[in-house]
Amino acid sequence: MSELVRLERNASIAVLTIDRPERMNALSWATVQRLGEIGRELAGDASVLGVVLTGAGEKAFCAGADLKERQGMSRGQVREMLSAYRSELGWLEKSDFVSVAAINGIALGGGLELALTCDLRIAAPLATFGLPETGLGIIPGAGGTQRMARLIGESRALDLVLTGRRIDTSEALALGLVNRVAPSAEQLLNSALQWLQPVAEGAPIAQRAALSAVRAARRLPLEQGLDFERAAYERCLDTADRDEALLALSEKRKPRFEGK
Ligand code: COA
Repeated sequence: MSELVRLERNASIAVLTIDRPERMNALSWATVQRLGEIGRELAGDASVLGVVLTGAGEKAFCAGADLKERQGMSRGQVREMLSAYRSELGWLEKSDFVSVAAINGIALGGGLELALTCDLRIAAPLATFGLPETGLGIIPGAGGTQRMARLIGESRALDLVLTGRRIDTSEALALGLVNRVAPSAEQLLNSALQWLQPVAEGAPIAQRAALSAVRAARRLPLEQGLDFERAAYERCLDTADRDEALLALSEKRKPRFEGK
């Protein structure tokens, strides 16, 4: 049996690879559980500042629900799966570290929803995106209707959800569905890691404060959001890293952050 999801470390960045290329990295029950397990493991590790999530092989990031497994599932089991998407994958947008989907190929249905659960997205030049669920007599059930509408706006989300049409990387970039495109599929992972370099080398307390404050904008009205930002700023004000940054600036050198 394959490992389902590989976990590797690149200093403070964890790299997760869904490793079921023979099933286009589809989300089986066990794969979702394994992702949840890894999330809990990483959440307890203060040295992790970022996570990159990608798919094994050249074809797919993740082709969504494992449709072969789904065929044998009762309606009750499907309901459990929908709950598991939420309980086991939600850490990607809730943990103390930033999460990045590195979309190496096909991202359909639950695969695209998985990428939407991440904070940021980078894609290979020839990736494919789509939410085909309505064509299968269902709707996106891993947060796709909510996160897509929040990310790219209601009308553009409706276009993708109601038609189920597939789009390429350049359209995904134009829609704001992905933040950036790697120069080639081969350079995708390195591009993601380079992108995260300022996070990996940054002041951890400020990084976490900034992440939580921007995420809060999604759920809070402005006045409460401004209070949240103020409280997050306060967490940085008394840190040694902030003093070190000011000192390094005056001494014209790079700061040495210690997370204190
Ligand atoms: N679940 C389980 N297995 C899947 C899968 C999925 N979601 N998507 C692809 N696979 C499997 C195929 O069954 C096939 O395995 P097999 O050779 O043992 O039959 C293998 O992956 C390769 O897929 P194939 O269809 O031959 O490759 P392709 O390049 O022609 O097409 C896709 C790839 C992903 C476009 C196509 O397989 C597809 O449309 N899959 C369904 C995606 C989907 O609708 N996901 C949303 C579900 S809500």
